[in-house]
Amino acid sequence: MLWQHLSAFLSFSAVFGAALAPWMAGDLSVSLPAVNPCCYYPCQHQGVCVRVGLEGYECDCTRTGYFGANCTSPELWTRLYNLLKPSPAFYHFVLTHFRWFWDIINSTFIRDTLMRLVLTVRANLIPSPPTFNSNYGYISWEAYANVSYYTRILPPVPDDCPTPMGTKGKRQLPDAQLLAERFLLRHKFEADPRGTNLMFAFFAQHFTHQFFKTSGKMGRGFTKALGHGVDLGHLYGDNLQRQHQLRLFRDGKLKFQVVDGEVYPPSVTEAPVHMVYPPAVPKEKQLAMGQEVFGLLPGLCMYATLWLREHNRVCDILKREHPTWSDEQLFQTARLILIGEGRRHRGSPRPTSHGDLVPSGSAGPARL
Ligand code: HEM
Repeated sequence: MLWQHLSAFLSFSAVFGAALAPWMAGDLSVSLPAVNPCCYYPCQHQGVCVRVGLEGYECDCTRTGYFGANCTSPELWTRLYNLLKPSPAFYHFVLTHFRWFWDIINSTFIRDTLMRLVLTVRANLIPSPPTFNSNYGYISWEAYANVSYYTRILPPVPDDCPTPMGTKGKRQLPDAQLLAERFLLRHKFEADPRGTNLMFAFFAQHFTHQFFKTSGKMGRGFTKALGHGVDLGHLYGDNLQRQHQLRLFRDGKLKFQVVDGEVYPPSVTEAPVHMVYPPAVPKEKQLAMGQEVFGLLPGLCMYATLWLREHNRVCDILKREHPTWSDEQLFQTARLILIGEGRRHRGSPRPTSHGDLVPSGSAGPARL
């Protein structure tokens, strides 16, 4: 405890020491540098802090349901809503009991209706058009229109704050390595409490790398996955040129190679796309896939192979049913079907009696 007080005092002194020095020496004419008041996060309920003059601020409470200098006074509807809203403990109790009730919901049409409602309500929480990104802590055209940025729902901490958290916490963020070791490093095997396994981790990794693609060239606030969603860019490439290299241009199919009688992604010599492999791997041994880093891990290669097989399987069925369709129509339709499958297998969540939402499927195309 004593140490905490001491370290808080030390970090306070480190921030303000330089500014206080002339004052302590009796030079009262030098004024303290004004800390940006927005660093104190005075605006409540997601009101947006705007700096006014040197030391002033205003809170923009638009659509927060609150008003007042710090967005703390509830409007009439907010007051009513807060009055009627059940507590988190109540939700928790209902969601973790009455199994028979949840079984009925999960086995009837109510499940889909309820999930549609939950997802729509949640989707509405996301501001559209997008508001902030990591470079603009205020409403801007860039944040709205420049889709190569990752968007943000909350503004970033202003640049000129005394600490990375604004005014609270230490002046420096803790070492990432240390955090990872403290929280994640295991010394003995512990089975996952929900019985999942490495396949699920690889599924998640494979899935998320279609929309989380931080751009090395433009900077860490930027994404290369301009589709911004489940577009299966990790199967078809994140741009048209890459897609064309990966396509067979026959029957809507993707290029492939057969090894020991089984279908795999083509080699980079057959589909010349940029892939990240260790330098020792020759081009003819590199597999060409939609996502350039998938060659680095066997689990990612495996899922890429399953989806490739699935795309070509769907093309075969479509071609049988629609013999008049062109390669382009077969390809585009198969892609739409696979996007649907991708979303479905990622897990249309269902309400449970365990109080959370679990994916309905985690095995990817293998479940088809
Ligand atoms: C064998 C296991 C894994 C390895 C070796 C690995 C390695 C990496 C590396 C080196 C990065 C880049 C970090 C950087 O740019 O600073 C990264 C990023 C990332 N990883 Fe993993 N990872 C693994 C498992 C996972 C899993 C299971 C997920 C599940 C969701 C995942 C999701 C991500 C995401 C979303 C990013 C950010 C990608 C981006 O924005 O470009 N990773 N990983």
